[in-house]
Amino acid sequence: MTEADRVPAGINPNVPSVARMYDYYLGGRDNFAADREAAERMMELGRRMGNDARAIAQANRGFLGRAVRMIAEAGVRQFIDIGAGLPTQDNVHQVARRHGPGSRVVYADNDPVVLTHARALLARDTDVIALEGDLKDTDAILDDPRVAEHLDLSRPFAVLLVAVLHFVPDNAEAAQIMARIRQRLRPGGYLVLSHLYAGDATADETETGQQVYRGTTSGGLASRGYAEIASYFEGLDLLGPGVVPVADWTPDASPDGSYDLVKSGILAGVGRVRG
Ligand SMILES: C[S@@+](CC[C@H](N)C(=O)[O-])C[C@H]1O[C@@H](n2cnc3c(N)ncnc32)[C@H](O)[C@@H]1O
Repeated sequence: MTEADRVPAGINPNVPSVARMYDYYLGGRDNFAADREAAERMMELGRRMGNDARAIAQANRGFLGRAVRMIAEAGVRQFIDIGAGLPTQDNVHQVARRHGPGSRVVYADNDPVVLTHARALLARDTDVIALEGDLKDTDAILDDPRVAEHLDLSRPFAVLLVAVLHFVPDNAEAAQIMARIRQRLRPGGYLVLSHLYAGDATADETETGQQVYRGTTSGGLASRGYAEIASYFEGLDLLGPGVVPVADWTPDASPDGSYDLVKSGILAGVGRVRG
């Protein structure tokens, strides 16, 4: 079977998908030539900047797993993962269940390929649902009747936005999305966020990265500075070391100020609503 034979109906394999590019960074096989080419351009850019895109993607998955484990161990059993990505190893529902039996998960993504894969994987799993949803309209996700049936949003739940908010290039829109999500969280609920960090990229390097992503399904990319990323946790109690390089976030670390922010690629944090 050639690669062209495995293109699902309705999918244009010639437009790189950010979900499939990420799958390629992680060493997965659910990607096409256009995805690999775009991802290779980003990996080359990373090398020029002294970063390893693959290692950063792996570190991001590691963060996701540690954060979900901490939340499940704290007793929260409801997770809404927006920008969930293609199924890979240690998916949110697997980690959540391992550390919190009975956990229920909603996966949302705006890429139909992700939904096709997720539904095939989860066909007989009653504790997990996958739906098409856009981070730009989180109310539509949270108010979706399938979510109301699956979760009890009057009880604490966690919203996961892992490596997705940087696909909303407009700063004001990103801030608005985050303010709305913080409003919707319940006391005892959690926000898990990781975000591409601007570091010391030159204007030229930033433009090269943006150019690659403008041609993808996301239509754009915005790395952001420390203050902007930290502001997304406004009003929440930051757990562990605070907002730090994604590889350094562990629930029991405390801030020590010696992080190599510039080379981190992605910053991450976990906030909790007091109560
Ligand atoms: C880099 S992957 C991250 C996957 C996973 N969260 C992780 O960190 O391992 C980004 C995912 O976000 C999805 N995505 C991008 N923009 C989105 C949006 N506006 N709404 C929902 N999902 C989006 C992509 O389709 C892709 O699956």
